[in-house]
Amino acid sequence: MRHLLTLFDLDPNELNSILATARYLKDELRSGRRPPILERHTLALLFEKPSLRTRVSFETGMTQLGGGSLFLGDDVGWGKRESPADFTNVLGQFVDAVACRSKKHERVEELASFNAMPVINSLTDLSHPCQAIADVLTIQEAFGSLTGRHVVFVGDGNNVSRSLALACAMLGMHFTLARPDGYELDQPWLDRIAARYPDAKIDQVCDPSAAVKHADAIYTDVWTSMGQEAESKIRRQAFADYQLNADLMAAAPPTARVLHCLPAVRGQEITDDVIDGSQSDVINQAGNRMHAQKALLVFLLRPQWIDENVPQA
Ligand code: CP
Ligand code: NVA
Repeated sequence: MRHLLTLFDLDPNELNSILATARYLKDELRSGRRPPILERHTLALLFEKPSLRTRVSFETGMTQLGGGSLFLGDDVGWGKRESPADFTNVLGQFVDAVACRSKKHERVEELASFNAMPVINSLTDLSHPCQAIADVLTIQEAFGSLTGRHVVFVGDGNNVSRSLALACAMLGMHFTLARPDGYELDQPWLDRIAARYPDAKIDQVCDPSAAVKHADAIYTDVWTSMGQEAESKIRRQAFADYQLNADLMAAAPPTARVLHCLPAVRGQEITDDVIDGSQSDVINQAGNRMHAQKALLVFLLRPQWIDENVPQA
């Protein structure tokens, strides 16, 4: 049984296969075809935090694949009404997979440890692998190829940048984090990347203008992630010089694309003119969440369908 807790659960060939499947399914949808690859399959969504994109893209994606989904919020009592083993093994009697958004990464690890059904991390404090798959799909669409592209993330060394740094390492892309001191990618995560991908090109700098000089994609995310609300004032001060605005865009090549996982705090980490500007891909990027996750679901639940139907890149 396969799980996706972080992108370390995939190898680069598998990630490329998921990207090829996402492109294939996106083209199919645009041509009016919705192949029922997961007919009568059910995905549970077990969420401890708010969500628009992740929840809706998983639910609509399952419908398009001929299956169904059910959203499980607080009332199912995960971790409250019964033991983790009972909860998970019972859920596994009913559903084919679970997409889980939890406050602590250890919770999705525990859910997966029972091997009751494939578990998909739908955002934890540690990582957001589904977002990173959609991100690299968006960059691939913009440039046609990924190898050698330079992604500059201006902001926090958080779940989103961690996952994107790993995706870049897997696909031969250069990743730079421009951040204030104290908000780096954590060393254990960097060590894991270096051990698995010794050729990974990841650097961390303080000067955002110098960082974006040769960027193909410039990415930002909120300065205060869900669960960090108590730090928001200090973070606003720390990141004050890291806003993605017209001045910073002027330091980047005119061909650079702008990405944001959303939701954004407009006027804080990014200005309206940049997020709404001609270099921005954020709406297509959000839409790609669905195409990427449809591909991931097929990869986890019916991998042979991919072998038989999707021309690999
Ligand atoms: N980007 C993202 O995961 O958005 P949601 O929190 O709305 O799911
Ligand atoms: N880093 C953000 C991403 C939200 C999609 C958070 O964890 O809140």
